[in-house]
Amino acid sequence: MKTIDQVDVAGKVVLLRADLNVPVENGSIKDDKRIVETLPTIKSVLDRGGRLVIMSHMGRPEAGKFDASLSLAPVAKRLGELLGSEVAFPSAGDCSQPITFSLDALEGGRAMLLENLRFHAGERSGDSQFAGKLAPLADIYCNDAFGATHREDASMVAIPEAMAGKPRVAGLLVKKELEQFESILGSPAQPFVAVLGGAKVADKIATIEYLIPKTSAILIGGAMAYTFTAALGKKVGKSRVENDRIKDAKRILEAAAASACDLHLPVDHVCSTEFAKSSGDIEVFAEHIKDGYMGLDIGPETQTQYTQIIAKAKTIAWNGPMGVSEWLPFSVGTQQVAQAIAEATEAGAKSLIGGGDTASAAKKFEIADRVTHVSTGGGASLALLAGERLRSIELLDQA
Ligand code: 3PG
Ligand code: MG
Repeated sequence: MKTIDQVDVAGKVVLLRADLNVPVENGSIKDDKRIVETLPTIKSVLDRGGRLVIMSHMGRPEAGKFDASLSLAPVAKRLGELLGSEVAFPSAGDCSQPITFSLDALEGGRAMLLENLRFHAGERSGDSQFAGKLAPLADIYCNDAFGATHREDASMVAIPEAMAGKPRVAGLLVKKELEQFESILGSPAQPFVAVLGGAKVADKIATIEYLIPKTSAILIGGAMAYTFTAALGKKVGKSRVENDRIKDAKRILEAAAASACDLHLPVDHVCSTEFAKSSGDIEVFAEHIKDGYMGLDIGPETQTQYTQIIAKAKTIAWNGPMGVSEWLPFSVGTQQVAQAIAEATEAGAKSLIGGGDTASAAKKFEIADRVTHVSTGGGASLALLAGERLRSIELLDQA
């Protein structure tokens, strides 16, 4: 892939698609990792006198409407602080109308950030007319939105398509992420162990099926475990179960049983009568969960099993917390797994962590610097773990 540092940007308009979809609460940014990780690309353009137009999405707004809670305004401000120079933010205007903004005031070495592209219906639908408004303004297209590379939104696919003939390059974050995935997972040393958790099994079916023949063990945790235990006929109380995925869970369990991969489900569960930090009645159940209780973390016996398996691994991929990792009584499983992955890495394993909640947990439990790579991608890292081809990447110029 050709990268941004390999093209001459002086005086040119560079249209940069970044993934600045960061967690924001009441206007304040909770974790700016994605912004910080995009800085090398941004600086590479600005330091060489490029005129930079940055585009991103934020959350999943209703198309055609402005939603202040999903505005990129706090991101423009934070970016300006990090760069030490103001980032223009022309805002959205009427979101039911095509995007309009002027490049007249944008000098070389300066950046502007467009408002959340998903306020416009054409972004998610991948509309070529929407793309046609932006593509002619730019001389160079750059994709540094690693976290969105699995999406076919207009800014990821239709815009670079409309810019055929002009340079279309990867940003430095996309380059780093793809290199890390290749070096850790390209020909993984065995035992290769995947740790998958989080709320939804639906997001991870393709990944699990792809990983079964490649891994020696898959450790399942988080709420998604209950769709599997329910599929085995175990009592799950009022745990979250995706009934429409029981069939998929059964198919996965059969595929794993017929393979050399051991698919592990939790053997005990930390449960509560309420989905709340401290108000419910907390109890640990093995095998069957009592009526009225829901599983909110893997139990102590499961923690022991999982950490022992991780300790022997040579390659580890982790996506999704083992429980409600934000709340202390239910964060122990995630913390134990995080610690085990850090220790295995220090003992020579290669480890890759993906997903916003998982990356936050890695930071919270202070192991982010003790693993091989913490990805900025959630769904994108799952797509790569599922062996998917990424159209947004395939479109970019070869070096
Ligand atoms: C993410 O946070 O996973 C990326 O920014 C992509 O967002 P999306 O899942 O809403 O497309
Ligand atoms: Mg996502």
